[in-house]
Parts: sequence; structure tokens; C-alpha cells
Amino acid sequence: MEPIYLDHNATTPVDPEVVDAMLPFLYNKFGNASSVHATGRDAKVALEKAREIIAEVINCEPSELYFTSGGTESDNIAILGTAYRLWDKKRHLIVGAAEHHAVLEPAEYLAHTEGFELNFLPVDKEGFSSGDSLAALLREDTLIVSVMHANNETGTIQDIAALTAVTHDHKCLFHTDAVQSTGKVKVDVKAMGVDMASITAHKIYGPKGIGALYVRAGVKVWPLFYGGAHEKKRRPGTENVAGAVGFAKALEVALRRQESDYNKMSELADYFIDKVTDTIPDVVLNGPRKNRVPQTMNISFKGIEGESIVLALDLKGIACSSGSACTSGATEPSHVLKAMGVDPILAQGAIRFSIGRSTTRDQLDHVLSVLPEVIGKLREMSPVYSREK
Ligand SMILES: Cc1ncc(COP(=O)(O)O)c(C=O)c1O
Repeated sequence: MEPIYLDHNATTPVDPEVVDAMLPFLYNKFGNASSVHATGRDAKVALEKAREIIAEVINCEPSELYFTSGGTESDNIAILGTAYRLWDKKRHLIVGAAEHHAVLEPAEYLAHTEGFELNFLPVDKEGFSSGDSLAALLREDTLIVSVMHANNETGTIQDIAALTAVTHDHKCLFHTDAVQSTGKVKVDVKAMGVDMASITAHKIYGPKGIGALYVRAGVKVWPLFYGGAHEKKRRPGTENVAGAVGFAKALEVALRRQESDYNKMSELADYFIDKVTDTIPDVVLNGPRKNRVPQTMNISFKGIEGESIVLALDLKGIACSSGSACTSGATEPSHVLKAMGVDPILAQGAIRFSIGRSTTRDQLDHVLSVLPEVIGKLREMSPVYSREK
């Protein structure tokens, strides 16, 4: 059997339509979008067209969209750029407890190194946050609230509009990391009421190394880099024209297929989750059954380390991931599952299967045929499983 790739939340292959759209901008239309000659002007036209397409998809003005190298950079500009601007005036941040590290780490840097105060917005057992908990944390000196739209580990889709409604009376900014939702479900930055939103191309069959930050007109955020007037000085550096064109095409394709992809993924995910939980004992789905991006299935296998399952499945040609971070040999359970209050033994054994456009029922059936044996063998060797049983 061909290798089975179930790690689409990590990254996706580039869609052939996207490759075709990008190729001219790698060959004959290779110009620098800042050059005044015809080759440069052609590149500039393509860059601005890409900006218009992406802006329309997320419902903002093209002038409110800044190209970056991806989600990590967009998140960093949102958090650090806001803090740099308000450095002496506001010193308090709120970020979701289950955020991606691209949000958590700049926030933690500000707290641990620069003396800012940081609060984490709690999530419930399915990963949702409430407006009431946010209201309880907001302060006069809160400079930014950052809560992700869809969680990369569990797929939980947060009701961002309900959270921004709470911050309206406060003069703080609201940023959302929409990296895992854009293209998969509807993302409308105006309807969500956010001031900033991070998006990226490579999770939706676009190229790596290109993303964007939406910044609502009138919102000021300082750049992290200096050295040119590109992207209105918010993100200096020669623009990745081919990448931007590819990003726009990837979103066009995603939009065209959004409903059918959503339905297909939901059906496959429901099938897989039901089968796994029916056929293997001591298995738990982490995250909600509803209000989630269906591509993501986070499943805990009690009594074993997620990393061991990932390695065992890899040997069988199946790619998936565990949410845990491996530092100096010791596996730490995922901070997302910890924030959701998942029992540490279950959190250790969590696996993320993230399906994509190429995933078939046959592939999932193959995984389902090898999984019981893999789990059974690992449990036989696990002192934790026999003790906990
Ligand atoms: C929720 C979320 N935010 C940010 C990122 C980082 O995006 P990029 O890989 O484009 O830097 C990721 C990637 O895994 C993500 O899942």
C-alpha cells in the first residue's frame, strides 16, 4: 500500500492548479514588485491581484492585508507589534490557553523578559472559551486579546464574534489566529469583529513560506523588521510574488471546494472516530463532535505514549502526529489537552489524525485494520496501562 498521509494540519501538498498559477512568476515573470520597469510592474500587478483575491475571501479591503512569511510571523507581528506600540501605556495581555506556540511564545517572552502581565483565557473540556471568562480577565491596561479561530490539535472552532463582543467596550485589540480555519470553513474578519487575523497558505494546498496578517484600517501595529517600504513598512523585504499568487489560487480552489470538502471530511471523520472508539478499548476523542474543523481528529489511547504510536504507525507507512513536545527525551503532554483538563494519562497517549482531500475510506480502513494490533502491542509493554486498568 502507498504511504498514508494523515497529517494535513502540519502541512499539505501544493495543488496542481496552484503550481500552474505560480510557475510564470518563478520563470519569465520573475520581477521584483518594487522595480519600476515593466518586469517589476508585472510582478506588482500580480501581487496586488493576489491581495485582492485573498481580501475578498476573508472579507476585508486589500489595503488591510499584509503579506508575511506565514502564520508564525503574522502571529508575532500581531502580538509583539502591538506591545511595541503601546509599550509604556498598556502592559497586560490575554491569550487563549490552547493557542499555538506562535502566539504563546511571543506573549510569554513579553511576560517573562519584558515584565508584561499575561493571563490565559481558560478553555472548557472541549476547548471552548466563554465570554464571561474573558470579561473577568479584561483590564483597563489590556493591550491585546489573542484567541485562535480553529485549534490545530483538536479542530475546536471558537465563536470569535461572541468573544470580540465582550471586548468592544474595552480599548484593547483583538487578534485571531485563523491559520487552521481559513479555506476550510467560512472566515469573515468583519463578522468576527477582529482587529487582526493571521492566515497562511500551506495548510490549504498552497506553498510554504507565505501568509498574511489582516490589520483593520486604523489599527496601528509596529513592524518587527526594518529595511524597506514593502507592505507599507509593516513587513519590509522583497515580496514573495509567486507565493502570494499561489496563496490566492489555493484560497480560490479551497472556496470552490469548501462545501464538498467539508462534507467529505465530516463523513470520513465520523466514520473513523466511531470505528476507532468501537473497536479499541480505552479510547477517547479529545475535542467536540460539533463546531470543529472535521479534518482534525484528536484521539487518546490510554496507557501509552503518543510518540510510540506515531513511530509504530510510521513503520507501517502511516503518517500522523502526537500533540506532545519531546524535550530532552521526556515527552510532555500537549498544553492544549492540559488546558482542556484531559487526564494526564490520556493526554500522553493522544494522536492527531488530520485528513485531507486525498484521504479515502480505503486508507482509513487500512489504518483501522492495523491500529488495534499496534495499540495492543504497545499496551502489553506499558507498565502504565496495566497499572491503570
Ligand atoms: C494554529 C496555527 N497557528 C500558526 C501556525 C504557524 O503557521 P506557519 O507554519 O505558516 O508559520 C500553525 C502551523 O502549524 C498553526 O497550526
